[in-house]
Amino acid sequence: MRDYYDARAAEYDDWYLGLGLFAERDRPGWKEELAALERAIASLPWAHTLDVACGTGFLTQYLPGEIVGLDQSEQMLEIARERVPTATFTQGDAFELPFGPWAFERVFTAHFYGHLDQTERGRFLAEAERVAPELVVCDAALRSGREHEEVQERVLEDGSTWTVYKRFFAPEELAAELGGGQVLFSGDWFVVVRCD
Ligand SMILES: C[S@@+](CC[C@H](N)C(=O)[O-])C[C@H]1O[C@@H](n2cnc3c(N)ncnc32)[C@H](O)[C@@H]1O
Repeated sequence: MRDYYDARAAEYDDWYLGLGLFAERDRPGWKEELAALERAIASLPWAHTLDVACGTGFLTQYLPGEIVGLDQSEQMLEIARERVPTATFTQGDAFELPFGPWAFERVFTAHFYGHLDQTERGRFLAEAERVAPELVVCDAALRSGREHEEVQERVLEDGSTWTVYKRFFAPEELAAELGGGQVLFSGDWFVVVRCD
């Protein structure tokens, strides 16, 4: 995923904002639901939070508390640092988090877990559990007529093509998979689950 996200960093927010290659996408209710997701994230209780795979910081900016963002991609982090000057950002690997046991109160991760294969999921969840007692996962919602997982062929503005594994979650299924969690947000596009 590393090269793909380095290459995508400059155009990543187009996905959220419906710009660039996403301008013509038919996404009913996307804008309104994204605003509701932002409010749901902002209404989490204040916490010392590690945002794993924070990307450009688009959702990081709504997290309440003392925030550290971590991502493997320096190109993503450059944008995040500018967007959220109040947070601290560090380059690192989600599977070997450079922090001690329970260094944080919460791990937050968005649109990362759903790209992991089974082995990676176990490794990530073990790391999250090691560094914080609470985990909040935001990911893509399973919409009717859609498979639970797919291998997508994605194209960037430079014409390059990339193969990306992606899952879609029914909220209760994600909660069960994470070992029993509380569904904080459930929409047509996004789900958020908290477990502790
Ligand atoms: C789909 S983006 C999500 C970004 C952001 N969390 C969001 O919701 O907008 C996935 C991010 O995961 C990062 N990533 C992928 N593998 C990683 C790893 N092993 N460690 C840290 N970050 C990783 C990528 O660089 C990318 O920024």
